[in-house]
Formats: sequence, structure tokens, C-alpha cells
Amino acid sequence: MKIRSAPSSQPDIAFTLNGRPATSSAGCSVAVAVLANGATGFRRSVSGELRAPLCAMGICYECRLTINGQPHQKSCQVVIGSGMVVQTDG
Ligand code: FES
Repeated sequence: MKIRSAPSSQPDIAFTLNGRPATSSAGCSVAVAVLANGATGFRRSVSGELRAPLCAMGICYECRLTINGQPHQKSCQVVIGSGMVVQTDG
């Protein structure tokens, strides 16, 4: 499933997703930026299943990513920033 970014008047910013250059509208969450760049597996459960954002409000912990080297960050609660380095397990 490909999720497209909604039209925005915000400028695009550059970040790194899984070692590759990516862009996103400024002001959106890291979770939205990651989804808009085509990644669907955010992390793996203890049994190895791919997981992805569910609640988008900081409750479920399914959106955890490594952001700027810090593991287990709730990506739905972090605003994407220029130069961020984001890593999924998917
Ligand atoms: S999507 Fe549920 S905590 Fe981020």
C-alpha cells in the first residue's frame, strides 16, 4: 500500500530512511513521513511479524523506530526534521 502525502504549503525537508535519501513535508510526524516514502514495516514483534502504526496518538507503541540512533522512539509523536536519520526493522 502506498500512502501519498497530502498537498501541503509546507516546504519539503530531506531526511534519511533506511540509509536512503527521502523527503517529507515539514511539520508531519516521522510516522507519516515514513509511510509517505513507502515503508510499511516499522518494527518486528518478538515473533518476527512486521508491525506498523495503529493508533497515531502515542498509545499502542506499534510505530517504534530508531530515530537519530535512539531506538524505540514512538514515531507518531516525533515531528520530522531536516537531516533526521530514521531506521525501520521492516
Ligand atoms: S501509532 Fe500508536 S503509539 Fe504511535
